[in-house]
Amino acid sequence: MLKGLDIYKGRKVLITGQTGFKGSWLTGWCLQLGANVVGYSLPQAPTSPSNYELCKLSGRIHEVSGDINDFDKINQLIQDERPEIIFHMAAQPLVLPSLENPRETFATNAIGTINVLEAARHCDAVKAVICITTDKVYENEEWLWGYREVDRLGGKDPYSASKAMAELAINSYVQSFFRPEWYGDRHTVAVASVRAGNVIGGGDFADFRLVPDCMKALIDNGPIVVRNPNYIRPWQHVLVPLGGYLLLGAKMLQPGAEAYIGAWNFGPPEMNGITTSQIADQLIELWGSGSWLCENSDSDKLETSYLRLSWEKAARQLNWQPGYDWKDTMRDIVEWYRAWDEGKDLEALMQAQIKRYAESVTV
Ligand SMILES: NC(=O)c1ccc[n+]([C@@H]2O[C@H](COP(=O)([O-])OP(=O)(O)OC[C@H]3O[C@@H](n4cnc5c(N)ncnc54)[C@H](O)[C@@H]3O)[C@@H](O)[C@H]2O)c1
Repeated sequence: MLKGLDIYKGRKVLITGQTGFKGSWLTGWCLQLGANVVGYSLPQAPTSPSNYELCKLSGRIHEVSGDINDFDKINQLIQDERPEIIFHMAAQPLVLPSLENPRETFATNAIGTINVLEAARHCDAVKAVICITTDKVYENEEWLWGYREVDRLGGKDPYSASKAMAELAINSYVQSFFRPEWYGDRHTVAVASVRAGNVIGGGDFADFRLVPDCMKALIDNGPIVVRNPNYIRPWQHVLVPLGGYLLLGAKMLQPGAEAYIGAWNFGPPEMNGITTSQIADQLIELWGSGSWLCENSDSDKLETSYLRLSWEKAARQLNWQPGYDWKDTMRDIVEWYRAWDEGKDLEALMQAQIKRYAESVTV
């Protein structure tokens, strides 16, 4: 059972990007823990359908619509609501759109993060800020071993670079205003960045992502088009990193919070990663029918497609472990999309899946 999360009961939590895929699951989890959730996102959910709407989360939180680039608005919200902890997720989260709109991606992901940190700096209620970046912030050297939090940042495409820029800004805020050695004296805010990638789960309807593409094809009885069957990625259930973020946040709300300031990786249990074709095969098997075909095999270059994070720091210092392996993940995904296809109660399913995940964690 994932322990230590009772601390969220009755606390005010601000989640930026709560209408998105990860944000909706985090909102559902915080509500299950009894937190008082405030959300800040663009007026329209990023996809239609959307997990946030299907799970009827909007009526259960205080939601405010706005742009994270609008400093006055996010600042006013933070000063008015006085959250104790902020999970900052609002972002343009995809590589392909970042190539179409690099300026917007850089602004939203880098300046948006600075806006949240600056507003938090001027609100004495805020005890913790957790900024969600990505595994793509590392300069990818095609190493076989996993990247550690101290490894060099990089990012060739605008999305990755914008998140690496956010990391530099977070570190600058830590060094300039929120140093661990100043905690309790010059400030009382613990700031962290969290890096995890290739998050999958029920309720994702984004374009250009493997699992939503697979599930749409299976539901429509069409073939799954797999672009790079041999690509290896740290596929992980959305609740795996979210459990890490919540555990980290819980530590940052307690005495000794300064020990948790800094960067944290979270990842799945598989050492060797899982290929795209393994994901497609397993989804087809669990769905009971379907097929996949490979498109654009020219771009299938295994040597440029490997990315893994080391989460040893989280294991040692947070006593964190992922609760699900990739097959547990596939089971929950197929259960979710089948329930959606059959018009079942997704609000109840979200709560049941969160409970099952929390119980699966053995540390
Ligand atoms: N999904 C993944 O596999 C993955 C992997 C690594 C990191 N991340 C990170 O996790 C976070 C959430 O990703 P997601 O997949 O849930 O994304 P998503 O697209 O589903 O949701 C994005 C959220 O951010 C909000 N948002 C976007 N632009 C905004 C703006 N200008 N102002 C205010 N709100 C804005 C949207 O309204 C939405 O609520 C992002 O920071 C992303 O970079 C996601």
